[in-house]
Amino acid sequence: MTREHADAGVTISRRLALQSTGWALGALWLPRLARAQSSGGNDPGFDRFAREWGELAEEMLSESQPDEDRYVYRLSAMIAALGVERLPSRPRDTYANEGMRSGPSYGAGDNFLVEFELEPGAVIRAHNHVGYDFVSVGAKGECHYRHFEPLGTPPPISGGLHEPFELRESRRGILTAGRFSTLTRVRDGIHWFQAGENGATFFDFGTNLKKPGDGWTEFSVMEFDPEPIDREQGIYEGQWIGNPYK
Ligand SMILES: [Fe+2]
Repeated sequence: MTREHADAGVTISRRLALQSTGWALGALWLPRLARAQSSGGNDPGFDRFAREWGELAEEMLSESQPDEDRYVYRLSAMIAALGVERLPSRPRDTYANEGMRSGPSYGAGDNFLVEFELEPGAVIRAHNHVGYDFVSVGAKGECHYRHFEPLGTPPPISGGLHEPFELRESRRGILTAGRFSTLTRVRDGIHWFQAGENGATFFDFGTNLKKPGDGWTEFSVMEFDPEPIDREQGIYEGQWIGNPYK
């Protein structure tokens, strides 16, 4: 099932399009994009970037202990060199609700690109990413972001929903055109977004480091008390609530 189809200047394999149905936040429930082939339309600059991104990911994934920081920062530099204005828009929405519209605009191998378009003030609720590296880059407008890390081992999502646990805010900032935020499997793995008063568009560059058989049940939205337990240290109390983005 790899029949190619073209839509809005972006070619995405039928396999990818089918797998992405119901996909809101970027491969949260998406099995490995095994050999899905797609390209960013007719822009040779993006095509070259995509090839180099694939090579960079393959190199990182071939390492027994991948240096994921080196990977996301090298990828960020490649995106900056390309220019965010050359990133392909999503051909269609695979999710549209609560002021957020999103969909994949590129995918090949373990790499995928998702575009998010948020109405003014719209929120993407805090959620985790287990087994992925992500680079988020702003394209239009302004989007606030926050990242968190659990303190210690959080409750398991399967069987541990609504159990309170402590987490630390590890970074916050704004995405505007060309500004970045990143996360890896070992840091900043929970993130939250809110568009500014004029709305925002940003892109997530994801790379799947999961191995077949790792399972797909670890995704959850995290609710947290906006009042910190410890303001100086940025400690909050949160709980997994499951996946309302299904
Ligand atoms: Fe995310």
